[in-house]
Amino acid sequence: MGIELLTTTRAFRRRLDLTRTVARQDLLDCVRIAVHAPSGSNRQPWRFVVVQDYQTKQRIAEYYRKAFAANLSGRTPRPDELGDLSSARHLADHLHEVPALVLVCTIGRPPEPASPLRLASFYGSIYPAVWNFMLALHERGLGSCLTTAHLYYEREIAELLDIPFDEVAQVALIPVAHLRPGPSVAARRAPATEVTMWDRWGTA
Ligand SMILES: Cc1cc2nc3c(=O)[nH]c(=O)nc-3n(C[C@H](O)[C@H](O)[C@H](O)COP(=O)(O)O)c2cc1C
Repeated sequence: MGIELLTTTRAFRRRLDLTRTVARQDLLDCVRIAVHAPSGSNRQPWRFVVVQDYQTKQRIAEYYRKAFAANLSGRTPRPDELGDLSSARHLADHLHEVPALVLVCTIGRPPEPASPLRLASFYGSIYPAVWNFMLALHERGLGSCLTTAHLYYEREIAELLDIPFDEVAQVALIPVAHLRPGPSVAARRAPATEVTMWDRWGTA
């Protein structure tokens, strides 16, 4: 894996090829890499539910679209957010057509009462695996996008997929498809010098 993979693994939405199936073996290969991620006390709490059944994808997509609309209502998007938003809407509209929807789950429920340490340990033990998974997909020419909108309806989706809600939390929904040809462009981000401080806050 090179630096290029790290800088060009984007939120792929419009480039997802909705016409090609994704092989289970490819998904398993990527899970094999995902599980090398770090986790608190090496608990390895990850579970991956791969949904390829069309009707189930339709049900998930309906929840996703309702959540997406609810999330947008009553707020004005930032001007720099508009492109991303239009591509996010495109994904929402086509979610059921994406060949594989991968629900990443973690054993346990979000900590209550929440504390910075407990939250960091809970989510910090699963998101590195999510990102590993996305990098591994991209390296094979598969595209994905980290999404969470479905969590508005986490309980309903848990029921739909027989996920034991009281014991397992869903943390991300990763649509996976082959990537249609297109330029591999590094994401635009603030320069390192703007986001790095030395010795104390505010001394960038
Ligand atoms: C925690 C988290 C939640 C996200 N949720 C969604 C989502 O629900 N729907 C979506 O289309 N994108 C979602 N994204 C993707 C972000 O919009 C995307 O990573 C960001 O705009 C950067 O995109 P880029 O790497 O292509 O520049 C989420 C990303 C993160 C890290």
